[in-house]
Amino acid sequence: MKVAIASDHGGINIRKEILQLLDEMNIDYEDLGCEGGCSVDYPDYAIPVAEKVVKGECDRGILICGTGIGMSIAANKVKGIRCALVHDVFSAKATRLHNDSNILAMGERVIGPGLAREIAKTWLETDFEGGRHENRVKKIKDYETEKL
Ligand code: RB5
Repeated sequence: MKVAIASDHGGINIRKEILQLLDEMNIDYEDLGCEGGCSVDYPDYAIPVAEKVVKGECDRGILICGTGIGMSIAANKVKGIRCALVHDVFSAKATRLHNDSNILAMGERVIGPGLAREIAKTWLETDFEGGRHENRVKKIKDYETEKL
């Protein structure tokens, strides 16, 4: 698995924590920034990560900003992205099992690095359950491709 990861200035510390986790889990990644020191615009980071995922250059994405909200809104504008904004371990597992989410968004002003690490670990380790959820996800894909 290869993960594309990015944050704005509001998410740098959690991004560093998740980079460490990816190293520990031996998961390959592409770190798309941002560099620290100045204020940046979250869509400039969310959209490149989302595009890497839809183009198949990376399998999944992780995005962190202050709240996770801006990153998730921007990423979900890219066709084929199912970005889940998650701040608890239960939802991290559920959104992989049920939604087959391909991007995880978190907010550094909402949760601490320990919880963010547990959320990311759970999200990375959980597979899509398929079954009855397959058709639900397919309805989203059909809407995106104007088949509905
Ligand atoms: C930046 O101040 C902040 O707005 C951003 O990190 C994020 O929370 C937006 O949703």
